[in-house]
Amino acid sequence: MNTLAQLAVAILETADPAAKATLARDVAAAWRGGEISEVGTATPPARPARPARPELKRATEVPKRKITRGTAGRGALLHALAHIELNAIDLAADIVARFTHEDLPRGFYDDWMQVADEEAKHYLLLAGRLTDLSAQARIKVACDLPSGVETDTGAMLSSIPDHDLTVAFGALKPAHRLVPAMPRMGRVVLADIGIAIVGTKLYVEMDIEAVQGDSLPVG
Ligand SMILES: [Fe+2]
Repeated sequence: MNTLAQLAVAILETADPAAKATLARDVAAAWRGGEISEVGTATPPARPARPARPELKRATEVPKRKITRGTAGRGALLHALAHIELNAIDLAADIVARFTHEDLPRGFYDDWMQVADEEAKHYLLLAGRLTDLSAQARIKVACDLPSGVETDTGAMLSSIPDHDLTVAFGALKPAHRLVPAMPRMGRVVLADIGIAIVGTKLYVEMDIEAVQGDSLPVG
């Protein structure tokens, strides 16, 4: 049986958000239930694992989203909260794995595994609500690539809903033309963002206003 410290590292090294949250809940239940008996020792990774997309950016470089009263605004708010919960799972798992070389009371690990469990529960509730909202959207639009698609191979790193439209920014990526991802993207159009593209003739002028309205971007 793995030690608690090893399992905390496994949580940190799980990139897929839903898989990370599910593992955190499972480890917390096993710790609570006494199935894991030893804290052990471990060295947490320098950074927690994240999916290949979306690209990680500095906080100041993240595009601003409008929190409006409509469905899209609620989606933007829940999406922002889901990111906070995801980071909170990693913070708790990191504390469990990082402070295993000290002589700390068992209650320290009980408390931080409870935090990891609760943050994972919050994440899964928000992710579930976002999925419900996405299902209600009249038009599902992915920005550049749907979330969970591996850019270079077209592999699906998590379950991906069917989209009506995918707007590729600047250039088509391999995943736009590879299975299993391609059939989930609906119509794929290329939006000119002012960058010269070498090696492709596809260029589509699109009226983005036409697909906004009640739509909720799910990419
Ligand atoms: Fe939370």
